[in-house]
Amino acid sequence: MFITFEGGEGAGKSTQIRLLADALRSRGHDVVISREPGGSAGAEALRHVLLSGAAEDFGVRMEAMLFAAARADHLDCVIRPALSAGQIVLCDRFVDSSRVYQGVTGNLEPALMAALERVSIGASMPDLTLILDLPADVGLARARRRAGVSLENEAPDRFEKETLDIHEKRRQGFLDIAAREPDRCRIIDASLDVDRIARDILAEVLLVMAQRQGIAQGLHNDQPAKLSPGASS
Ligand code: TYD
Repeated sequence: MFITFEGGEGAGKSTQIRLLADALRSRGHDVVISREPGGSAGAEALRHVLLSGAAEDFGVRMEAMLFAAARADHLDCVIRPALSAGQIVLCDRFVDSSRVYQGVTGNLEPALMAALERVSIGASMPDLTLILDLPADVGLARARRRAGVSLENEAPDRFEKETLDIHEKRRQGFLDIAAREPDRCRIIDASLDVDRIARDILAEVLLVMAQRQGIAQGLHNDQPAKLSPGASS
């Protein structure tokens, strides 16, 4: 099962991935944790180029292609082999981050985004995507606290205001994806306390696992009937 975590800055994805991995391992599952951009040797090399800002001058189109190249390598070298070996893959960000960061706030043409998805992912969409949702100002304050910057008692300046607007657009971008793909996506309220969020996430994951098991069981039970039509009549 391939599960991705998405959301804005400061949503608590890495903490929740760790807690979910612990909960699944204690139930006997083999779990692999990964992240994007990165997760494989080739993709980690591109992570440095992307996050250091080295690619920024070349424009959002170039960045989107680099994110897609990193994703293709990550899928080939880590995700698909793990899934084939029966492991559960938990990934911190995946294609929805490109859709939102490069597509929505980067204003890249939808046709280019769709073409990049086709070549980088093919049919390997996640089975479940957990969108950790939080008001943009709360997430931004958390991310800044984590980075050691305190803005308490200071009114946001123009730059911070613009940043907040962009974060709000990204939040809406993730919510729009969830509305378009309700079978794959679940919205998780990330403003609750850590333990409550972890319980909500585990409940969603166990539900999807049970549904998949039910479908697999159903297919299995159907097989004799399909193989010998009319046998039971
Ligand atoms: P990271 O340090 O992993 O932080 P976090 O996930 O905690 O925010 O930073 C990854 C950054 O890269 C983040 O700002 C989102 C961005 N990103 C994209 O713009 N497009 C993508 O396709 C991915 C995977 C990430």
